[in-house]
Amino acid sequence: MNRKRTAILISGRGSNMDALIAAAQSPAYPAEIVLVLSNAPGAEGLAKAAKAGIATAAIDHKGFEGRAEFEAAVQAELEAANVDLICLAGFMRLLTDAFVGAWHNRMINIHPSLLPAYKGLDTHRRVIRDGGRITGCTVHFVRPQMDQGPIIAQAAVPVHADDMDDSLAERVLTAEHAIYPMALKLVANETVRVAGEKVRFEGEESDQAALLSPAPVQ
Ligand code: GRF
Repeated sequence: MNRKRTAILISGRGSNMDALIAAAQSPAYPAEIVLVLSNAPGAEGLAKAAKAGIATAAIDHKGFEGRAEFEAAVQAELEAANVDLICLAGFMRLLTDAFVGAWHNRMINIHPSLLPAYKGLDTHRRVIRDGGRITGCTVHFVRPQMDQGPIIAQAAVPVHADDMDDSLAERVLTAEHAIYPMALKLVANETVRVAGEKVRFEGEESDQAALLSPAPVQ
């Protein structure tokens, strides 16, 4: 099997990164994590990745004139590592259209809401403020518009009456850790393809079912 060489881009603690690394430890998993890159040199996730024996790179965006220059440095690292796919996992930089275009259908992101609802930051606070009863998380292909792009996987998560931002975030995070490895698997083994800006599935019936109905979160 030709495992897809995958880079994970992070800015912080990297718990989704951990879930992807854990899944990719199985030789049968169709992606291997070859690089973890962060724009924040102190990101907790970088140290965890290094401990897991994965190559890491810190490229501090503050050291660059602008976004294009920063991204050129990121791109150079990705090319040096011969990367096929990118997973954004809590990567807190907006990307230029040029960078997103260069990775069209080869870059995916996880977002803590049921897109297209609640794009942007502070999703859990806004869901609670609005009295939402169900929220969740989404893995999607990245497009130039923030938190937009063909949807690969979603999980629904209930909002409890006494939830605070943190308790809801924790419950959604559990679902994130379940669907991100599943979504990367389907992209890497080419079960998923994009047609007319929607995701279509080919073969692998059981995985499709799992994506529609991942393990329920209480
Ligand atoms: C997650 O909630 C993810 O959905 C969002 O940023 C957070 C990153 O958390 N994009 P972690 O760094 O993966 O723990």
